[in-house]
Amino acid sequence: MTLRIVTVVGARPQFIKAAAISRALAEHNRGNPSSDIEEQIVHTGQHYDEGMSQVFFDELQIPRPWKNLSVGSGSHGQQTGLMMQRLEEVFCEYEPHVLLTFGDTNSTLASALVAAKLHTPIAHIEAGLRSYNRKMPEEVNRVLTDHISTWLFCPSQAAAGNLAKEGITNGVHVSGDVMYDALLFNQQLAAEKSNVLPENCLKPNQYSVATIHRAENTDDKSRLTDITRGIGEIGEPVVLPLHPRTRNCLARHAISLPANVKALEPLSYLDMVCLVANAKIVMTDSGGLQKEAYWLNKPCITIRDETEWSETVECGWNRLTGGNPGELVRAFASFSDQKLPERQELYGDGKASDRIVRCLANAITTAR
Ligand code: UD1
Repeated sequence: MTLRIVTVVGARPQFIKAAAISRALAEHNRGNPSSDIEEQIVHTGQHYDEGMSQVFFDELQIPRPWKNLSVGSGSHGQQTGLMMQRLEEVFCEYEPHVLLTFGDTNSTLASALVAAKLHTPIAHIEAGLRSYNRKMPEEVNRVLTDHISTWLFCPSQAAAGNLAKEGITNGVHVSGDVMYDALLFNQQLAAEKSNVLPENCLKPNQYSVATIHRAENTDDKSRLTDITRGIGEIGEPVVLPLHPRTRNCLARHAISLPANVKALEPLSYLDMVCLVANAKIVMTDSGGLQKEAYWLNKPCITIRDETEWSETVECGWNRLTGGNPGELVRAFASFSDQKLPERQELYGDGKASDRIVRCLANAITTAR
């Protein structure tokens, strides 16, 4: 009997994670001729711009989605509800044995709710992360998804500890972070293939990178004004690849970018890796970028009030500044002057995807 896995993705970081898992699944099938695991990828359409979606499928050689549900943008209820309606139809047609879902987006929660109601076991990759800020849509999405998952793959021991505090101990595996697998696989390729530096007249270590996209940083005019002012007061070149949400909010609030900031279109994964690998300092509100900065040996300033990736702060490579411009400038100056502490291995060894695939293959074969 063929084991059917449905992988649901929708937003940019999920494409990167899915690429690592799909590659590991294909390798598992090649190495185990008796294995009969089929994966179908379903794209909710949460991200739909060419630069936010297709470029990742092309560059990371992710199998073409079996279905694209074209849900697009909308309010949380509208977006999540439409995804659920369309995903339910897909689940009824494909009858998957397992749902693979990643992270904390609306696509994650919609797929998990549909699977749970249809009694399809859920494998949640990047389980157990907590900001303990329930105002973040991502926190709601991840808490609810964890509580209805069968397999919970945690990037760190701390994430497994968070689950234990909520009474979740069954099915919890500390696998490491699949984003590290993706980075190790693509780092050399990025160095060879990306032209992002010459294309933007950038020289290694002579610029810093910033990204802002979280609703809590973009939607409120005074918060976004403070953040752009802080980045301006750094007074050194900063490159800012702009998420469409941020571009829209800057226009809506009539905020113009300071002179030291160069805005770019959203970048592909390889371009982003190359940009960070050659940067001086990273400033971001993204989760993935906080870790990528660490793995690429770059200090990170996190423009948020809390982080799920607390280990990077504890080891001295990441600082939380919230949206306060003064804090941002101080953190930047101190990272510029200071020698950074010894690095330790955080979030696994780059083999998380293999571990996850083996674990699922064993569990499912045993259950059959
Ligand atoms: C989503 C995730 C967030 C993740 C981020 C990665 C949720 C609640 N949030 O946030 O956790 O870090 O993806 O990027 O799921 N837009 C476009 N084109 C696109 C996609 C979005 O123009 O291809 C614009 C639209 O104006 C849209 C806005 O961006 O309304 C926000 O997009 P949405 O998918 O709702 O959330 P993100 O901010 O991308």
